Amino acid sequence: MDAFIMYKATAIEGQGIGPEVTKHGVDLILRVAERFDFPISINHIQVDDQTYFSIDESKVNDLIGSIKDDDFIIFGAIGAPNKSQDMHGGGLIIDIRQKLNLFINMRPSRLINNALCPLKEKTDFDLLIIRENTEGEYVNIGGRYQKGTKQEIAIQESIYTAKNTAETIKYAFEMALRRRKHLTLVDKSNVLTYGHGLWKELFYHFSAEFNEVTVDHFYIDAMVAKVIGDPGFFDVIVCPNMFGDILSDLTAELQGGIGTAGSINLGLTKPFLIEPVHGSAPDIAGKGIANPIGMLHSICLMFVHLDRGDVAARIFGIIDELVSEGKTTPDLNGKMTSEQFMNYVYSRLLFGETK
Ligand code: NAI
Ligand code: MG
Repeated sequence: MDAFIMYKATAIEGQGIGPEVTKHGVDLILRVAERFDFPISINHIQVDDQTYFSIDESKVNDLIGSIKDDDFIIFGAIGAPNKSQDMHGGGLIIDIRQKLNLFINMRPSRLINNALCPLKEKTDFDLLIIRENTEGEYVNIGGRYQKGTKQEIAIQESIYTAKNTAETIKYAFEMALRRRKHLTLVDKSNVLTYGHGLWKELFYHFSAEFNEVTVDHFYIDAMVAKVIGDPGFFDVIVCPNMFGDILSDLTAELQGGIGTAGSINLGLTKPFLIEPVHGSAPDIAGKGIANPIGMLHSICLMFVHLDRGDVAARIFGIIDELVSEGKTTPDLNGKMTSEQFMNYVYSRLLFGETK
């Protein structure tokens, strides 16, 4: 690594367990920074509910302006379902992805430990979901006509641009080349003939260019059955936004639960954004037992992306060790608090202790 690079990042904590996992993540990065020559400054920004839920667009735009020159953003999770307004986890994170054009979302999943996998027959698997992250049904275009009447009509539009679809598919082929050279497209092009038809067309266009990659195609309904029956079949999976959202919760569950899954959101330029796959988990917020592994896995993806696969490999290895020893938070049937778990991570990462 160029010794003169000083990375600049912003942490946006979020709500519920968001601040808890973000704190552990930031502490880890800062400790790694000292020990493994990774110069970084991390800015924390305070965000109010109005901004989290994208109620005040000018505040959202100010926030975007303040993070757009960073190298990366660390995002906790949002969602306050108990608040009186209809506040949900769609707001700011979707705005950030769309306004910074972070249209590629990568969500890896692998068998960490047999004991965590809910399948009767454990099979080794190590797959990577690449999801278009800004389009499809998530563009919030639509309306409700004659609302509240028996004649009400609700319209929810979805859009697919050739540009983002092509870039996402191309990126997936590039990732497949760096892995086991197998790429699967998932769509529902037999029914969603226009939007998903475009996906299929572009997929086979690129498959001719990346002819070292073996390709196949599943409709989403057959796909969920195949993932449960034979997850080891897959290497890289590419799909439109909503299917990636849903499939990645399924694959998170196969590796041990939503608390263990990490993700990275990328565009063609910096900044990129890392976030755990889980939401704000209001049922366990404030109890000190949120599993930090989803955030830690996201941090590993950050290190890999910044060419520090060496640091990522150590963190991945320590997580696997702790899981195999049963040193986990209660969601993985352990008895640790988040802090106790992190203390084990630090003692192994920074001091090389093994028990
Ligand atoms: P969730 O992921 O917050 O929680 C689902 C279940 O998993 C809960 O039982 C929770 O306790 C558990 N869980 C999640 N993360 C965990 C962790 N790190 N450690 C231990 N257990 C964990 O999903 P849910 O309940 O559907 O949504 C709660 C709120 O979060 C909603 O407002 C939703 O809209 C929002 N949300 C936000 C996301 C984001 O910020 N990116 C993503 C998904 C949901
Ligand atoms: Mg989701």
